[in-house]
Amino acid sequence: MALSKAKMLPAPQHIAIIMDGNGRWAKKRGLPRNAGHKAGAETFRRIAAHCNDLGVKYLTVYAFSTENWKRTEEEVSGIMFLLESYLKEALRDMEKNRIRFQVFGDLNRLSPKLQKLCRETMERSSVYHDVQVNFCMNYGGRDEIVRAARAFAADVAAGKCSADSLTERDFENYLDSAGVPDPELVIRPSGEQRTSNFLPWQSAYSEYVFMDVLWPDFSNEDLDAAIEEYHRRNRRFGGT
Ligand code: FPP
Repeated sequence: MALSKAKMLPAPQHIAIIMDGNGRWAKKRGLPRNAGHKAGAETFRRIAAHCNDLGVKYLTVYAFSTENWKRTEEEVSGIMFLLESYLKEALRDMEKNRIRFQVFGDLNRLSPKLQKLCRETMERSSVYHDVQVNFCMNYGGRDEIVRAARAFAADVAAGKCSADSLTERDFENYLDSAGVPDPELVIRPSGEQRTSNFLPWQSAYSEYVFMDVLWPDFSNEDLDAAIEEYHRRNRRFGGT
């Protein structure tokens, strides 16, 4: 485990974040909601760099949920535009930063252009193994489990494996997060205390830290504080 430069605490290997509160941040300033998402995307860039400095190996962020399609067309296209711009930037900087990108979620509902960009980014960065960013896009935890169950059932029907011998470890290989260790720490800013269908399988034993700050205002010090809080918890995994 790498050491946090600021406080010399070991950073968790995998941190997951629900980037919540963009809309309220914009409202407080009399701005359109998409201005909040734009500010949220900037916060993501800064926090991703800070995670890198702290030696975090996996960063997973909730960028767009299966439920977010219910928002206005203007807001949805604004978020899609930000995601597209970010992926283009990532493709450009990939070699320099040696970061692997993964998308968790059902890509099929995204625009053909965005799907192509996601696939290209995932494929081109698959050679990097030091740091990995997982973008949850059109992601819902229950949807992920249902898609995994379908893929498993198809393998059973094709005679590739048997239902009776399925273990938890085997099933994990059908999830979007196959090969990625579970997050030790999940952070939800914005004051809401819900998990909102985010990584329900993977976060079964994660420490949740809920914080009273809106995502665009989330500072590097807030991340350090969440890591400190994580260290104060006593993780027993059901043991004594
Ligand atoms: C939740 O806040 C946020 C979202 C649904 C979208 C998150 C998207 C981004 C941060 C921009 C794209 C990301 C990157 C990294 C390029 P909310 O809108 O539900 O806020 P509210 O609860 O205050 O209304």
